[in-house]
Amino acid sequence: MNVYEAVQSRRAVRGFSDEPVPGDVLQRVLSAAAWAPSGSNLQPWRIYVVTGAPLARLKKVAVERVSAGDPWDEREFEMYPAALKAPYGARRSTFGRERYSSLGITRDDWEARQRAAIGNWDCFGAPAALFCYIDRDLGRPQWADLGMYLQTVMLLLRAEGLHSCPQMAWSQVRETVAEAVLPPEDLILFCGMSIGYEDPDVTFIRTGRAPLAETVTFIGD
Ligand SMILES: Cc1cc2nc3c(=O)[nH]c(=O)nc-3n(C[C@H](O)[C@H](O)[C@H](O)COP(=O)(O)O)c2cc1C
Repeated sequence: MNVYEAVQSRRAVRGFSDEPVPGDVLQRVLSAAAWAPSGSNLQPWRIYVVTGAPLARLKKVAVERVSAGDPWDEREFEMYPAALKAPYGARRSTFGRERYSSLGITRDDWEARQRAAIGNWDCFGAPAALFCYIDRDLGRPQWADLGMYLQTVMLLLRAEGLHSCPQMAWSQVRETVAEAVLPPEDLILFCGMSIGYEDPDVTFIRTGRAPLAETVTFIGD
């Protein structure tokens, strides 16, 4: 698989089979991903990989918590600005429409949306997950480094025939994650990532992208 194929076939998969992900594959992917770039080579990512019984326990506790309507843990960062100005608000609405219509859920069926969202904390059935933390003293450039690192992981997973779903949703139950991975106090959970083999029976709508001219300006010949 070349890099273009890896980029184009990566998507946020929300339906995994229970086929286990071999430990040596995860080792290989994460060893290679360590070559992701970061400003001054700080390598600010702190990753916890969770599989097997500890992941099963974490999913169970998280799903029970969310299903019971337990309030989210106190936020350590805002996932989005309170008001999303143009064009971001419209892009978010389009995403929501596509995500839920692929599941046959209508816009005003709040309960069905909630049920679908709960899949996040079951890792959409995935047998492996990682949790990406960063030191709370680091700043925005280092958070950007995390993005480069996580995309590197996701592309390498494609090369191994695996899929993934990055999930900020895990930050909403960060204390439950912390009980499972026991991070030092100085770390903040940015996101989780479900990892596994795709369940081909789960339907989805491929997300679109803005026309190139909306996001890229070429200057010069
Ligand atoms: C940092 C980050 C956090 C995300 N959090 C979630 C999440 O909590 N739950 C989810 O289902 N998808 C999540 N996504 C997936 C996005 O919705 C998805 O990447 C976007 O809609 C584009 O679709 P695609 O990845 O399938 O191309 C997240 C993606 C990123 C990059």
